[in-house]
Amino acid sequence: MAHIMGLGREAVGLFMQWSMDGTMMTRPATPGVAPEGPASHVYFRARIAEQRALPEPTNHVFKVLLGAEIDGRPLSDQELTTQLHFMVQAGVHTTRSFLAHLVNRLVQDPALFARLDADREQIPLYLEESLRHDAPVQRTTRIATRDVEISGVLIRKGETVEMGIGSANRDEGQHGAPAEFRLDRSDPRGHLAFGAGSHVCPGAMLARLEGATAVRVLLDRAKALERVPGVIYPPLPGSLGHQPVPARLVGR
Ligand code: HEM
Repeated sequence: MAHIMGLGREAVGLFMQWSMDGTMMTRPATPGVAPEGPASHVYFRARIAEQRALPEPTNHVFKVLLGAEIDGRPLSDQELTTQLHFMVQAGVHTTRSFLAHLVNRLVQDPALFARLDADREQIPLYLEESLRHDAPVQRTTRIATRDVEISGVLIRKGETVEMGIGSANRDEGQHGAPAEFRLDRSDPRGHLAFGAGSHVCPGAMLARLEGATAVRVLLDRAKALERVPGVIYPPLPGSLGHQPVPARLVGR
């Protein structure tokens, strides 16, 4: 994401740091956050000021945002900062969780590692089943714009609805034996890991590309991934905020 957003190499370390320590998920209104906002806001405000000071922005992402208008007015610095922060939140934290699940499963399941190594064509199926079984984004929220009845439950206009993506992905009415991890599902993309409708994730293709690249590079470089003796591997939680998965990498 740092590269895609045209930021310097220092952003790579910062994004990782904010993802690991959780500050990526904080906002100015989060209790305990300093008045200047989370570190990402301070960082992006400085980058916006740099780009504004140039005769013409040199960074394409910033140039598009600085030129954008809502109802005929440009975005305020706060709105720009929020957009940039959200880009990182949505693009880094989620993908890191996705990659953690992909790698963790390969550490725990050497037969799967060997299967993918023998047939790289199965990597896309592996990615989709991981997204279904271990959805990085477990839930999302909506506010009903009108009264609606779903499966006999009345939701009134203005009510907040929490939608369980992780739960929907394990709906036995949609996915046979939903708790099983299988690469032979009839509709591998029939999950909701990237949401649906008008707000469906615009980064889904990038996330899939990153996942496929990571698994391919790992298989190219390692002939095995092994558990580290003495380390306890609890099941990874769904959702975000993973810590590193210890593993031994046996080089080719
Ligand atoms: C495995 C990785 C990812 C997962 C699981 C994921 C998941 C999601 C989900 C579930 C939503 C819909 C939220 C809702 O409707 O309330 C969403 C929206 C969004 N995602 Fe992703 N995402 C991932 C990667 C990315 C990447 C790499 C980017 C940026 C390049 C990105 C940018 C966004 C943005 C901007 C939205 C908001 C779209 C809107 O509200 O119209 N995501 N994502």
